[in-house]
Amino acid sequence: MSYETIREQLRALTQGIPHKTANLANASALLSMTLPDLNWVGFYLLEGETLVLGPFQGKPACIEIPMGRGVCGTAAAQDGILLVPDVHQFPGHIACDGVSRSELVMPLHKNGQVAAVLDLDSPTPGRFTEADRAGMALLQPILEALL
Ligand code: SME
Repeated sequence: MSYETIREQLRALTQGIPHKTANLANASALLSMTLPDLNWVGFYLLEGETLVLGPFQGKPACIEIPMGRGVCGTAAAQDGILLVPDVHQFPGHIACDGVSRSELVMPLHKNGQVAAVLDLDSPTPGRFTEADRAGMALLQPILEALL
């Protein structure tokens, strides 16, 4: 399914729903259904200097990630989409699900500041491409409106 179609589905699923947890939960379910070859997808929400586990699909995961730590904390600190083709080569990677081999993490903003990250994990090394980076950037404003 194209990212344009996913964007329309995400819009339809969340439009007019004023419940943040419900919307993020449905967003993670939609991404898990529509993006192939993922073993974990979900949100970490920034509380002070700590990313705290939010709605997700996948195995139970670590609850707190300090800003600047792991792939999620690095993407949040750098404020940019981070593609990690091989998590074993990423210093400080936090292994929640041992099956994860590659990751894409996208920061999400509220009032111009990083307020959350979306973390996608795949069991396949090099799963995420520049096309995924562009596709996720397409979804970014819709996801940010949910925060
Ligand atoms: N691997 C991530 C931690 C989150 S889990 O993969 C769900 C990281 O290094 O930030």
